[in-house]
Amino acid sequence: MTVASLPTHSRRLSMPSWLSASLSTALENARRGGRLSDERARAVRAIVESVGHVDYVRDAEAFAYLYFAANFAKAQQAILRLYRPSLSRPIRVLDLGCGAGPALFAASDTLRSGSEPGTNLHLAGVDVVTQQLELLNNLAAPLLSEHGHKVRVETILSDAVTFLEQTKGSWDLIVVSYLLVELAPRKRRVLQAALEARARAGTQVIVIDRGEAGTGTRYSRLQGTPQAFQYPPEGLDVHFLESIGLRTLPKSTKRDRFHVPA
Ligand SMILES: C[S@@+](CC[C@H](N)C(=O)[O-])C[C@H]1O[C@@H](n2cnc3c(N)ncnc32)[C@H](O)[C@@H]1O
Repeated sequence: MTVASLPTHSRRLSMPSWLSASLSTALENARRGGRLSDERARAVRAIVESVGHVDYVRDAEAFAYLYFAANFAKAQQAILRLYRPSLSRPIRVLDLGCGAGPALFAASDTLRSGSEPGTNLHLAGVDVVTQQLELLNNLAAPLLSEHGHKVRVETILSDAVTFLEQTKGSWDLIVVSYLLVELAPRKRRVLQAALEARARAGTQVIVIDRGEAGTGTRYSRLQGTPQAFQYPPEGLDVHFLESIGLRTLPKSTKRDRFHVPA
């Protein structure tokens, strides 16, 4: 059996249309229900920019509105550059601190397009906030109905460190996108040590997080050389924004590409 390799570096930084549509529906519903507004989007952006603590129970959708597409694109880039195709079937991916799942969906999209047709995927997201996991499950619905039993999505309400310590399951890829920045230094070191243990045991671990000042986003394979890329990348697909109609746009978005209500 040959294993198709992933495409080498590509500039394709778009979310699949089903995901854009799914995100659009979830965010429109949140806006109608009062969970997403310009006020919340502005407040969340200010907190993130000052490296403060976002209340993900209240602001899961506002965070997704601002950062889902960007974090999807970053994870897609990191996986395309760093993931070495695995021989195991199904391919099992774990996303720690998954939020609404941009890195998990990026892994699904990237690995499916680089794999033999018919390869099964098991995607698992771990987060401490129920609202984030509910959002992830909502977004995943079209993926599941399209691929049926070939894609399995599991959401786990747990602390990431506890999960790694208590779960024996093995994974081909663990992605950790903007979780370390959330943790207190001591806990961050514990998680890093747990991830390094998994990496030594053969799991590929990709970490995406804030870079040092001026280096943009940092991503690395554990035990590899950290690499950095400047953000925003070119060609980011943010079509879902058009239907939401908020005045506050994600920072990476070019304002003139969208109709912004006056
Ligand atoms: C900055 S968000 C990143 C979300 C997503 N990974 C992304 O790239 O957009 C951080 C996420 O980590 C979760 N989180 C914070 N502390 C956690 C912990 N100890 N264990 C698991 N998840 C945690 C938060 O609830 C939030 O969803």
